[in-house]
Amino acid sequence: MRIRDATVADRAAILRIARASFDRVYAFFAVRGTRHAWPFLVAEDGTSIEGFLEGILFRGTPPIGYVYFVAVDPRARGMGSGRALVQESLRLFRSRGANRVFAAVTEDNDPSMHLFASLAFERVARRVLWRWYRWRGLSVQMRMLLAPHEVLLVRTFTDLPPASTQEVPRAS
Ligand SMILES: CC(C)(COP(=O)(O)OP(=O)(O)OC[C@H]1O[C@@H](n2cnc3c(N)ncnc32)[C@H](O)[C@@H]1OP(=O)(O)O)[C@@H](O)C(=O)NCCC(=O)NCCS
Repeated sequence: MRIRDATVADRAAILRIARASFDRVYAFFAVRGTRHAWPFLVAEDGTSIEGFLEGILFRGTPPIGYVYFVAVDPRARGMGSGRALVQESLRLFRSRGANRVFAAVTEDNDPSMHLFASLAFERVARRVLWRWYRWRGLSVQMRMLLAPHEVLLVRTFTDLPPASTQEVPRAS
């Protein structure tokens, strides 16, 4: 199985997997989201598409990643595609300088909760969005993407150097 950028030729497979993985409303947003997603990845096994991931990179200093949708064909689940897709998105978000990546998951979605927890995502209260990002409207943008019943998860890259210049203690 390999992870690569999605292309136009993958569209039919992505629609099929979205419809098999989400209810009508989520599937609608998943399909619509393909237009502007970055990263936009597929997991491929031979010639068959096993899953896809749609991300959003919020610009800023530093930028912030958001795993908008990740889904794996029901017949191909439990074989590592979901993990590989999220891992690759983390690498790509990081390569653009993001220091945090968010995901939103329904609390009763055990596979998804486990997947993100196994990749060091932690649950945070929604109000942290306001506390951390109100100065650039990210909390507003993210709220538009979050359904009321979803839990917010965040993965922080702690091993990145600090974004701002550190204060140098003055000699007295
Ligand atoms: C969530 C989803 C993408 C996981 O994809 P997957 O390819 O089956 O996941 P992986 O095989 O990579 O498994 C990764 C981890 O997820 C967890 N996991 C996967 N399936 C699970 C299940 N049925 N129950 C509990 N945990 C599960 C495990 O912790 C696993 O880690 P482990 O191998 O150490 O046990 C897939 O179940 C899916 O498409 N679900 C429907 C769509 C969805 O809900 N997407 C998430 C919200 S956008």
